[in-house]
Order: sequence, then structure tokens, then C-alpha cells
Amino acid sequence: MTRTRVGVLISGRGSNLQALIEACKDPNYPAEIVVVVSNVPDVQGLAHAEAAGVPTLTISHKGFASREDFDAALSQALDHARVELLCNAGFMRLHSKDFVARWLDRHLNIHPSLLPAFKGLDTHSRVLQASAAISGCTVHFVRPEMDAGPIVAQAAVPVLAGDTPDSLAARVLEAEHRLYPHALRLVASGEVRIDGESVVRTPDEPAQAPLYSPPLP
Ligand code: GRF
Repeated sequence: MTRTRVGVLISGRGSNLQALIEACKDPNYPAEIVVVVSNVPDVQGLAHAEAAGVPTLTISHKGFASREDFDAALSQALDHARVELLCNAGFMRLHSKDFVARWLDRHLNIHPSLLPAFKGLDTHSRVLQASAAISGCTVHFVRPEMDAGPIVAQAAVPVLAGDTPDSLAARVLEAEHRLYPHALRLVASGEVRIDGESVVRTPDEPAQAPLYSPPLP
């Protein structure tokens, strides 16, 4: 089996990265992580990758005059590692238009809400403020607008009485750790593919929009 060569972009803790690393340990998993790039030095995610023997790079955005220059360096490093599919996992930088175009339809992100609701930062506080009953997480293809793009998979997580942003974040994070490996498998195996602004099941069967993730394995 040829495994899809995946690059992961991180900025910090790297618990989603760790979930992807664990998934890739299965020889039947259709993806392998060939490089992890952090824009922040010495973060926990880099230690996770190193412990698993995955090559890492730190490319600090601070060393570049513009977002475009930083993104060009990022693309160069990813090309050097022959990355085929890119996964953002807690990467806290917005991408330039050119970078998004360069990786179009080969670039996934995870966000801790049921998109298109609650894009952006402080997600869980805003979910609680809005008295939402259900939150969750989404893996989607990256588009120029932040936290937008065709949805690969979602998991729903109930909001419970007495939840704080932290308790809700922790419950959603557990779902993220199951969802991201599941979504990456769908894409890397070719079980789903991107068609314009939709994700479709292969072969050519229109997906329910979005592909809802039944209880995750
Ligand atoms: C996750 O909640 C992810 O959805 C969001 O940032 C957080 C990253 O956590 N984009 P980690 O670094 O994967 O632990």
C-alpha cells in the first residue's frame, strides 16, 4: 500500500498531532507523517514528534519580513519533504492567499466547533455565551477564509449544565482526537474526494452535505 505523505503544521501542545501519530502507527493506515513543522520553538508538539521518530522543523514566523515570505519558506520545506497532503493541527497563523492556492484541496484543518458556527478564537466561551446545546468539531479543507471550506467530517459534543470553557474544550478535544485520524483516513484512502466546494464519496456519489461522522471508532 502506498501511504500518503503528510506534513503537519503545529504551534503548540500538539495533542491532535499525537492522535495522528498514533493512527499512523497502524501499518494499514493510508497516511504517514513525513515532517512536522512548528512556527514556535520548543513546543510540546515537537517533543511528541521527536519521541515518535518523526522529522521536525521549526520555522519561526518572526524571522520573516512578511506573511508571504514565511509561507514561501514553509512551502519550500514541505516540498523538500515531498509532502502530498498538509494537516493543520493547532497551527495559529493565518495563511497567505498564495499558500492556500498552492496547497488547495491538499490541505486540512481541524476546528473545535461545528462549522460554519463559531469560527475563530475563544470558541468554547462563545458557544456557552450563546447557550448552544450542542458543540463539536470539524475537519475541513482549507480555503482563504479562516475556518471555512468543504467539510470532511464532524463530531457532535453535547454542552452540559455547569460547563466552563475549559470543561467543554476538554470534552471537544477528546472528540477531535478521534475525528482527525478518521477524516485523514477518508481523504488519504481516497474514500472521499474534493469536487469544487463539496466533499464527495468516491466514486461520484454526492456526499450528504456535510459528511456526518457517525459514532467514531
Ligand atoms: C485544537 O482544539 C484545535 O481544534 C484548534 O487548536 C487546538 C489545538 O490543540 N485548532 P493541540 O495543539 O492539537 O493540542
